[in-house]
Amino acid sequence: MDNLRIVGGTPLHGTLRVSGAKNAALPILCASLLADGESTFRNVPDLTDIRTTANLLRHLGLDAEVAPPVVTITSRPVVEPDAPYDLVRKMRASVLVLGPLVARYGRARVSLPGGCAIGARPIDQHLKGLEAMGAEIRLDHGYVYVEVPKGRLTGADVWLDVPTVTGTENLMSAAVLAKGRTTLMNAAREPEVEELARVLNKMGAKVEGAGTDTITIQGVEALEPVDHAIIADRIEAGTYMVAAAATGGDLFLDGITFEPMRAVAAKLREAGIHVERQDTGIRVVGKPPFSPVDVTTAPHPDFPTDMQAQFMVLMCLAKGVSVITETIFENRFMHVSELNRMGADVTVQGRRATVVGPAKLQGASVMATDLRASASLVIAGLVAEGITEVLRVYHIDRGYERIEEKLRAVGANIARVPGEV
Ligand code: EPU
Repeated sequence: MDNLRIVGGTPLHGTLRVSGAKNAALPILCASLLADGESTFRNVPDLTDIRTTANLLRHLGLDAEVAPPVVTITSRPVVEPDAPYDLVRKMRASVLVLGPLVARYGRARVSLPGGCAIGARPIDQHLKGLEAMGAEIRLDHGYVYVEVPKGRLTGADVWLDVPTVTGTENLMSAAVLAKGRTTLMNAAREPEVEELARVLNKMGAKVEGAGTDTITIQGVEALEPVDHAIIADRIEAGTYMVAAAATGGDLFLDGITFEPMRAVAAKLREAGIHVERQDTGIRVVGKPPFSPVDVTTAPHPDFPTDMQAQFMVLMCLAKGVSVITETIFENRFMHVSELNRMGADVTVQGRRATVVGPAKLQGASVMATDLRASASLVIAGLVAEGITEVLRVYHIDRGYERIEEKLRAVGANIARVPGEV
């Protein structure tokens, strides 16, 4: 398994092109199940999660040609609408085939994703919505069996107890072929949900209100394949914005719009970072000393949980005390013990982390068990004195396209080295 070896202390300078959004691409690729024929997706990032999704679609009998940034899916009727444990355990977002499969075939068997490193992550809201639309749900031996006795889902009003992102996406994808009108209330407002709605509408669906907390979907009889370029990845952009700030660099993030970055930009500015909105991207300039800032993660448009770990590194460098509160996932502070090994002073109590800075970070061998935690350790390595080795780089490869190449191109001293098996 590869590791990343970083020699810290070099500010990031130059221009970094932001890749396509992983969390938009995943539900969109799954939506290709909704229509027969060839769909072309552009600006798709080259990530393991994309390849896992392609494998799942192939398992369902579709052709998937992955040649990033282009992915071509040739969809045909699925004989066995089934997502097996082997694929779902590799990537919990595999559950995103559930909505399209039930919409089109009136039945599906999908392995329950189970918990993961960051929390329990149930899918009860996905199932509740499908039930409201007329599906019968049975859980058996780790699988969820969904069957629509009428054969076709019926539009319904669905109130989500939490504004779940993949839940909203699954139910939206299910409702597009249902009979009648579905209203999703307390829906997730993430830009990736909006992007999926855009693609579904291009395919011939009638979705309104995506990006707000109430989405209405008027079911149609059939959908068409699509050609679509995926939006830029706001979390990748945010990660490099923090990296630029923390290293005292000057970086232009090419291809990201300002709108989805508002909360992160606001918190960076509060910390004393110069964040400049430009026509084709965002420029970030970091000049220490940084100010401590309290951050609470919450659903979009608030501060994203997917940026919490990275922002914490910046707070370790700030002079004073900051409090970071995680409200989305119950176990998303795994990076803390590793940051403390590098010289940080962070104390966790329940969902709250208190960061005392400024810390003088020192290079160390570190490891994390999820994607964003690993990204935070890379940022810490870029800042730290000496050599940092970030182990288990496969977590990073799930969500950051060629991270070492991108960072090297803007001045970082970082290399991928083969690790022990
Ligand atoms: N939840 C429930 N019941 C449900 C669904 C969710 O209780 O039926 C809870 C979860 O346990 C969690 C909260 O609701 O506490 C929010 O979870 P959500 O369902 O919104 O998360 P997700 O859809 O599984 C997506 C992203 C995550 C991101 C979260 C939150 C994808 C493929 N994944 O996950 O991305 O952290 O939304 O914004 O879109 C990542 O990219 O690193 C990542 C983890």
